[in-house]
Amino acid sequence: MDKSDGMSWTRKKRAHNPPRLAFGFLIILVSVLLAAQFFQLAWLSPTSVNLPPHASETISRCRSLQMKAGPSEGFDKRQQSDRFVPGTKPYLLTNARIWTGLENGTEVIRGDVLIDKGIIKGVGHFGRGFIANARTRFADLEVVDAGGKWLTPGIVDMHSHIGDASSPALDGSEDDNSLAGTAQPWLRSLDGLNTHDDSYLLSISGGVTTSLVLPGSANAIGGQAYLIKLRETAERTPSSMLLEAPYQINSSFPDPNLPLHWRHMKHACGENPSRVYGVTRMDTIWAFRASYNKARGIKEKQDAYCARVSKNEWAGLGDFPEDLQWEALVDVLRGRVKVNIHCYETVDLDALVRLSNEFSFPIAAFHHASEAYLVPDTLKKAYGSPPAIALFATNSRYKREAYRASEFAPRILTSHGLKVAMKSDHPVLNSRFLLYEAQQAYFYGMPENAALASVISTPAEVVGMGHRLGFVRKGWDADLVLWDSHPLALGATPVQVFIDGIPQLSSPHVNTKPASFQHPPKVPNFDKEVKQALKYEGLQPLEPAASTHDVVVFTNVKDVFTAHASGIMKSFSASHEDELGVVVVRGGKIECSGQRATCFANGNIDSLEADVVDLEGGSISPGLLSFGAPLGLEVINQEPTTNDGLVGDALRKPLPKILGGDTTVVRAVDGLEFGTRDALLAYRAGVTSAVTAPLGSGFFSGLGTAFSLSAKHKLEQGSIVKEVTGFHIAVRHNSKGPSVSTQIALLRRLLLAPVDGALGHHFRDVKKGVLPLVIEAHSADIIATLILLKREVEREIGSDIRMTISGATEAHLLAKELAQAAVGVIVRPSRPFPYVWEDRRLMPGPPLTKESAISKLLSYNVTVGIGIEELWSARNTRFDLAWAAIETGLTMSEEETLALGTINLRKLLGVPYVEDDSSLDMVATCAGSLLSMDSKVVAVFSSSIGRVNFF
Ligand SMILES: *[C@@H]1O[C@H](CO)[C@@H](O)[C@H](O)[C@H]1NC(C)=O
Ligand SMILES: *[C@@H]1O[C@H](CO)[C@@H](O)[C@H](O)[C@H]1NC(C)=O
Ligand SMILES: *[C@@H]1O[C@H](CO)[C@@H](O)[C@H](O)[C@H]1NC(C)=O
Repeated sequence: MDKSDGMSWTRKKRAHNPPRLAFGFLIILVSVLLAAQFFQLAWLSPTSVNLPPHASETISRCRSLQMKAGPSEGFDKRQQSDRFVPGTKPYLLTNARIWTGLENGTEVIRGDVLIDKGIIKGVGHFGRGFIANARTRFADLEVVDAGGKWLTPGIVDMHSHIGDASSPALDGSEDDNSLAGTAQPWLRSLDGLNTHDDSYLLSISGGVTTSLVLPGSANAIGGQAYLIKLRETAERTPSSMLLEAPYQINSSFPDPNLPLHWRHMKHACGENPSRVYGVTRMDTIWAFRASYNKARGIKEKQDAYCARVSKNEWAGLGDFPEDLQWEALVDVLRGRVKVNIHCYETVDLDALVRLSNEFSFPIAAFHHASEAYLVPDTLKKAYGSPPAIALFATNSRYKREAYRASEFAPRILTSHGLKVAMKSDHPVLNSRFLLYEAQQAYFYGMPENAALASVISTPAEVVGMGHRLGFVRKGWDADLVLWDSHPLALGATPVQVFIDGIPQLSSPHVNTKPASFQHPPKVPNFDKEVKQALKYEGLQPLEPAASTHDVVVFTNVKDVFTAHASGIMKSFSASHEDELGVVVVRGGKIECSGQRATCFANGNIDSLEADVVDLEGGSISPGLLSFGAPLGLEVINQEPTTNDGLVGDALRKPLPKILGGDTTVVRAVDGLEFGTRDALLAYRAGVTSAVTAPLGSGFFSGLGTAFSLSAKHKLEQGSIVKEVTGFHIAVRHNSKGPSVSTQIALLRRLLLAPVDGALGHHFRDVKKGVLPLVIEAHSADIIATLILLKREVEREIGSDIRMTISGATEAHLLAKELAQAAVGVIVRPSRPFPYVWEDRRLMPGPPLTKESAISKLLSYNVTVGIGIEELWSARNTRFDLAWAAIETGLTMSEEETLALGTINLRKLLGVPYVEDDSSLDMVATCAGSLLSMDSKVVAVFSSSIGRVNFF
């Protein structure tokens, strides 16, 4: 498109706005005068008589090329936010512990904050006089006593697809990846922003107030990104959600009279753009270079054009060189765009750093950047200033590019002086829990100040909004979160969230937390692991080391939890520091536990030939079981040659005759791969075994298996805990699959009619109640149908079947009925999200609802276990369990909590359990229990391992 389109648009706009005509003329006159001064034109000289008709606009246009993006002049003196909603009451929050974001994220003020007109009007210790005065000054002032709770600025998510990849995902809601071309700087995420995404309120309930909505990563240049605040607006439009929208949202080319707001752009390199377009990295980088070359050409023409304008050389000048498709990329070259680049590996980071230097444009941030921690010096060579790095905490290894990602990257990069932000990539991670990413980064060694800043001040500055977001300062936006605990304490939940001064939670449900939650956890030391990660470029050996002696003595043990048929029990517990006990392990079996004197007559362990390990008040508990991700069947999710693959689904396509036809049954145990990194990382986090079912694509999965996560191969003693655990199927709405009613018809037939072959054989075991039937189902309607079917079948055959529902997002609606039907539930994922339609009636938990799905189900005595969705998250099971307990207001005991990841799961999945079984793995943690962020797993032992494994 050429310049004339832009001009005619301007004319049209003016014609439609007659009242503005005079004002517009005035503006033009003023700007011509200013421009004349700027270009030192001989304004009244005879040559000026020949000025072309649009000279004034051209002059101001040329002048605007020199403008820098950022806050408008006098912004810091504003008295009211541009986003202020008239009628919003002023609030005075008193007696808060305010993390201001200032002083490099170390400043904490115990005091008060006054907000009005959408901005912060004051921060400090106000005193009674001030408060009384404020009450008279503002008739409608709301005073909120924070009661010493933590107050922070709102969370800023600098990598989100909220609204563009909206939830629940429907075929009509995929608006974040264009498949129309590899370099499209002209696309705008704003144009796909769905205002009805179910996740806005969910994310707000996690303290997120602002998100940068990026186009997807299918393209090298995916298009322009937009900053939005997540709150509802009276206008109900995407445009009204925007924060400091660049002028180009409603004009083709800039209006030189408006302040130049930052623009944002998405780039992506590596696998995504290359795979989508079936090309190589070489092609993708050329697509970048070709595009930037084009933009550079336009920029050079503009600069040459304006050089002539400045010399008053109008003759034959023609139109201002402009191109609507490339103008955004030209702006990148003018340093007015925050360029956000999805880029994982060294090869890609290096290429983009070269690109930034070739075309002289700064990079705001590399996102994902799983190998950034290996090449900090390369990052520092990017044009301009070093890019920030936007990371996930532990979401890794799902493709080659992420295989070397490290949980220590936030710590390492921070130590190199690079800015690190944690991001959600929502809905890849539910941005409601973006703060949890910061908590994990902190757990793995990122300093406290940097970890808090990583989701608040750092992203605010990186997206160019440090002048109004990310800090509790006078004049900054009134986006504030009052927390029920220290924000770095696991499960921190907003008590209230303000956006533009408007409270967002209408009736927040908040649990009272123990005093210990008001401080960040005392996290473990990972110095040794960090060195290893760097030495081995992210592929450090993860195998445990065996104890040197047959006897191992754990000292300073606080609690010993053991598994029994009825649940988990505390078999030893020290109530005071000075009563900490010992646990003596011989051949991997607990020989004695209790007070030192109980196990050692003379209290002397020094004479013993033993490894002695000081647990510093830690505990010993049963190893956790993982279920839900294809652990053992997949190594790198997106690399088929590393995985077992999908099993066929006879309901969609007949199975090969040579296999046994449609009655074929596949066993997960036959496809197991041992010693994968996700398995070993989970093992090092106290998850010692997993149940995995064959990976189905529709109704059929097959026979699950239980195996050890530390075994090297299948022939090793104890590697298989149980060959066949249960029969796994899924009943779900599926755009490709047969109807739900057809799936139920098949299940009814399998349970009631005689069936041949292996399928018939295993379903006879299901009918006898020998083999559990594990059904993935999310919708309450499907679950209700399954409960009815179970009743029907049991009436017919006269015996009970063991049915477990996995997924179960809407199961809380049927808590009573599930309990009555003796159907157990594996809540998976353990914190719900409306991924698809079937999940939309989820129970979000505090602060939106008093109960969580888990607490509701437990209150009806449903047997509940928790599960996961993806391989990498197996290691986080201990925190998922702790979180489930925190959401019940810690009314669950540690024993009940551990049961959700051990005994209950075993019962629900068909993993045998024998009373006092010493072959069950036990996990030793140092400096806290397995459920605490204070602790680190230091050892695993069992009689089947025959020794103690150390890390
Ligand atoms: C165009 O967008 C800018 C920036 O959001 C806004 O200030 C202005 O009012 C809009 N103009 C029209 C005519 O909608
Ligand atoms: C800011 O904090 C980080 C992380 O604790 C630290 O590495 C850095 O040196 C600090 N910067 C200044 C200027 O104090
Ligand atoms: C759950 O079990 C407990 C203990 O057996 C019992 O007191 C309670 O009434 C049960 N709750 C329901 C809803 O059945």
